[in-house]
Amino acid sequence: MMTNVLVTGGNGQLARTIREFFHNNNDNIQFTFVNKQELDITDQLAISKYFSENSFNYCVNCAAYTNVELAEDFSDKAFQINAEAVKNIAIACKKEKVVLIHISTDYVFDGKKKTPYLETDKTNPINEYGKSKLKGEQYISEILKEHFIIRTSWLYSSYGKNFVKTIINKINENADLKVTTAETGTPTSCIDLAKVIYNIIKLKNVPYTIYHYSNEGEATWYDFAKEIATNFKDYDLDKVSQVAFFKTKATRPKYSVLSKKKLFENTITNNNHWKKALEKIIKILKNE
Ligand SMILES: NC(=O)c1ccc[n+]([C@@H]2O[C@H](COP(=O)([O-])OP(=O)(O)OC[C@H]3O[C@@H](n4cnc5c(N)ncnc54)[C@H](OP(=O)(O)O)[C@@H]3O)[C@@H](O)[C@H]2O)c1
Repeated sequence: MMTNVLVTGGNGQLARTIREFFHNNNDNIQFTFVNKQELDITDQLAISKYFSENSFNYCVNCAAYTNVELAEDFSDKAFQINAEAVKNIAIACKKEKVVLIHISTDYVFDGKKKTPYLETDKTNPINEYGKSKLKGEQYISEILKEHFIIRTSWLYSSYGKNFVKTIINKINENADLKVTTAETGTPTSCIDLAKVIYNIIKLKNVPYTIYHYSNEGEATWYDFAKEIATNFKDYDLDKVSQVAFFKTKATRPKYSVLSKKKLFENTITNNNHWKKALEKIIKILKNE
């Protein structure tokens, strides 16, 4: 039996990674990728029509408003995409009996904890992006029992714009790097997150609920930048220096490491350390 999976936000880095690594598979899982032009998730009519005209078993919602800084000034837009549109998707999933796999964020937490966040920990977002993503989660929980919400953190890939690619560009210019130590979290490779999503679909018996997923270990943005730089032998590591504070519009949680215990109990048991996952993406970017 074929399992039909719709992936929204098809041009984003996570969706493109799913396409690259899992589109061709031997598990009878058939992916359909739609980008914003093909299916705007804020268009309620288009969503309900598209879901009723097709027969999907799963929807992986990779569409989102992800610019944390701009979300401070355009919070209406962030809420429209990360909350109201997610509600449209949840309603359509319920009507057409589609299981929703939705991606959320460590930024639903305020960062006051000092040990990894559990799924049951109290949410308290401290920026507009986090607030909009939490509202999206709440709509899903209210509307649809058949859901997986996967909260993840500090995503990067070989696609689009992300921290890894920004730092590599600076390294290629031989620029000095001043990077903050103010936040601790876990960098996560889209490849490993895509694998988790794929396994949830393949296994079929994973209980519906919220899960946390990131790579193993923890880092500050400074540690992350320094590790990227260590993969470039010609770049002088002394050019990477730490700053205690970096002025941004959006406040970010000081600590947002996620506990993966619940996911490990139900699916994966092996997980890459963030440094190992990073090495793989850098190799891809260097064409090695
Ligand atoms: N990036 C991170 O560090 C991070 C961390 C934690 C969680 N997450 C979550 O992980 C998920 C995947 O993130 P990502 O990094 O892959 O994001 P991304 O690269 O920014 O991709 C998001 C995609 O959604 C599209 N989109 C925006 N509005 C849309 C709409 N109305 N209808 C359809 N598509 C729309 C965007 O298109 P345009 O670019 O054309 O607008 C973009 O292609 C998101 O839910 C995000 O909140 C990300």
